[in-house]
Amino acid sequence: MYKRKIDYRWSYRDANTKEYTHCYHTYPAMMIPQVARSLMSEYRPIGRFELLFDPYMGSGTSLVEASLLGIHSVGTDLNPLARLMAKAKTTHYNEIEIKRTFSIIQSELVFYSDDRVENRCFEHITNYPFWYSEESLLKLSYLSQLIEEQQNNLDFFKIALSEVVREVSFTRNNEFKRFKMSKEKVESFKPDVFRLFEEKVTRNMNGLNQYNSVPFRAISEIFGFDTSDGIPTDILPDGSVDMIVTSPPYGDSRTTVAYGQFSRWANEWFGYENAQNLDNILMGGKKYDLELFATCTIRAELDDIKNIDIKRYYEVVSFLNDYWLSIQNVAQTLRVGGVVCYVVGNRTVKGVQIPLDYFTAEMFEKCGFKHQITIVREIPNKRMPAKTSPTNKSGKKVNTMSHEYLVIMEKVQIL
Ligand SMILES: C[S@@+](CC[C@H](N)C(=O)[O-])C[C@H]1O[C@@H](n2cnc3c(N)ncnc32)[C@H](O)[C@@H]1O
Repeated sequence: MYKRKIDYRWSYRDANTKEYTHCYHTYPAMMIPQVARSLMSEYRPIGRFELLFDPYMGSGTSLVEASLLGIHSVGTDLNPLARLMAKAKTTHYNEIEIKRTFSIIQSELVFYSDDRVENRCFEHITNYPFWYSEESLLKLSYLSQLIEEQQNNLDFFKIALSEVVREVSFTRNNEFKRFKMSKEKVESFKPDVFRLFEEKVTRNMNGLNQYNSVPFRAISEIFGFDTSDGIPTDILPDGSVDMIVTSPPYGDSRTTVAYGQFSRWANEWFGYENAQNLDNILMGGKKYDLELFATCTIRAELDDIKNIDIKRYYEVVSFLNDYWLSIQNVAQTLRVGGVVCYVVGNRTVKGVQIPLDYFTAEMFEKCGFKHQITIVREIPNKRMPAKTSPTNKSGKKVNTMSHEYLVIMEKVQIL
């Protein structure tokens, strides 16, 4: 089987995860920068290390870390908000220009009044009177207007606005899913839209300053292709990538992490595509009625789930099919000697834990890779009820999702 090693060094219990541009915007299931950083330094490929690829880039943690090392990178994500974040986080904006633009915006905020708001049509926001007060909508619209009036660096300001759009809605802020606050909370909820925006821009300017202090200027390219469908060879020719550091979803978005719901506030606000149905197009969103892969490592688990709940079984299979299709395409991009690091979670479905780390190693092995090691990382502060054994040794029980599995493999041949 594929060797697992528990390593508490990788917990990064007290690490500052908001250094550099990592502070810009929260995102569900973000990778800890220190994990990406350590993978790139401790497991870097022998020889050439010029291009890193992240096929599930999310907010762009791996891309930022590559950039800090002066390594070029390519990232893709189907979520437009993720692409906006990754773009903003990897751009070395000119700080003097940013400061100048911010002062212009701030000076206009002082003169805010309802009648200065040009766009008062909010029809593109689903059920907007349910989610926002009229005052918040008008102020958000005014902020959008001021940002759009600027000539450049729009994304830097949009990323700050994006967080505010979500935070001033009536959603419960500690949840990724869209749940409305209680009636009492709604009545007393009076967010200061402009102050929140200013706080976020100020915080992000500090992050930018730290990011710009690094001597390298690597190129980070952001795309929106779906790796399950294929990878454009004009972007990533076969064998062009030296290292992959990524954290894929560990199940479909409807039953695991709701990337679409979390991102819908900003995606709708900015009029991005697929804002309302993102979770359906992410991995596992398409429905399949047969397995496209052959597996030994999770056969027993799949059969168990099938016996308990056939519908859930097909949901899991739909996700794993996309995952397998994606791995075949991703594998092509890497050169021989290149290293792939997948940071995965082993979720539990109907009481059955699916060892996605084994499945990941097994599928890459079918594509010409050799497993090096799987590091089991403790996730501080994550509480999950089910108990399992991360090493599969009896007696060594731990909380299931309080661990992450860093699957590290090397490409040994072209198949
Ligand atoms: C765990 S998150 C990545 C988080 C990222 N490492 C970070 O630090 O922010 C997984 C990402 O995969 C994306 N995703 C899901 N299905 C996808 C697909 N078929 N193609 C590309 N991206 C996909 C989701 O939108 C989500 O942003």
